[in-house]
Amino acid sequence: PRVAVVIVAAGSGTRLGAERPKAFVTLQGLTLLERSLHAVRGMRHAADPIVVAPAELLAEAAELSERASGRPVQVVAGGATRQRSVAEGLAVVDSSVEVVLVHDAARALAPSTLFDAVVDAVVERGYGVIPGLPVSDTVKRIGADGIVHETVDRSALAAVQTPQGFPCEQLLTAYALAESDETDDAGLVAAAGFRVDVVPGDAHAFKVTTPWDLRRAEEMLTGSRS
Ligand code: CTP
Ligand code: MG
Repeated sequence: PRVAVVIVAAGSGTRLGAERPKAFVTLQGLTLLERSLHAVRGMRHAADPIVVAPAELLAEAAELSERASGRPVQVVAGGATRQRSVAEGLAVVDSSVEVVLVHDAARALAPSTLFDAVVDAVVERGYGVIPGLPVSDTVKRIGADGIVHETVDRSALAAVQTPQGFPCEQLLTAYALAESDETDDAGLVAAAGFRVDVVPGDAHAFKVTTPWDLRRAEEMLTGSRS
């Protein structure tokens, strides 16, 4: 299938608190954005990356992206929310594309195998799929005052990741209909009435959100805990 991967890298990274927008922070010499592009480049399926970057970093993003991908990459400016940024990326997806993956640049260590598995599942099923992992902690529903109400049934929960994959026309329809601001693409696609399934995620696809996450990613790459 013809595949496009929209990599959203336009966030500021408030919780990470680095000097640069999060996708441009380096992890063992490569930015999170470059690492995400390497994963796309390593896919068994040929896929065209589309990078959504902060407006003030478009030139740098284009240069990094071309280097990481070995060819020119479409780079567009993002919006104020993740959903707006995805919409900007979708606006430049070629009409011949059949499967679109949306990926957080912040999930810099998501392996190529996960991207390929998502494409395969979308092709096989004909609807959207998102990677998810079982929730291992006990989860409590709590009140505003911090009072513990009850334990949530973990068997009915999944911690979801990216890349999330969809038949292109379903994702475009969902974005065209979008009214609410959802935290992920599957939320919008489901709101538009399309089925979305969870497929097995990968622990390496965790999102770098806080300084602690960045340290964990460094440890994974070096295999050390120093
Ligand atoms: N993102 C984006 N445009 C936005 C907000 C987020 O492209 N307006 C991207 C981020 O670059 C990131 C992904 O969406 O790759 C997931 O968002 P998140 O982890 O929340 O990143 P930030 O919004 O940058 O971080 P924070 O919420 O801590 O500010
Ligand atoms: Mg954010």
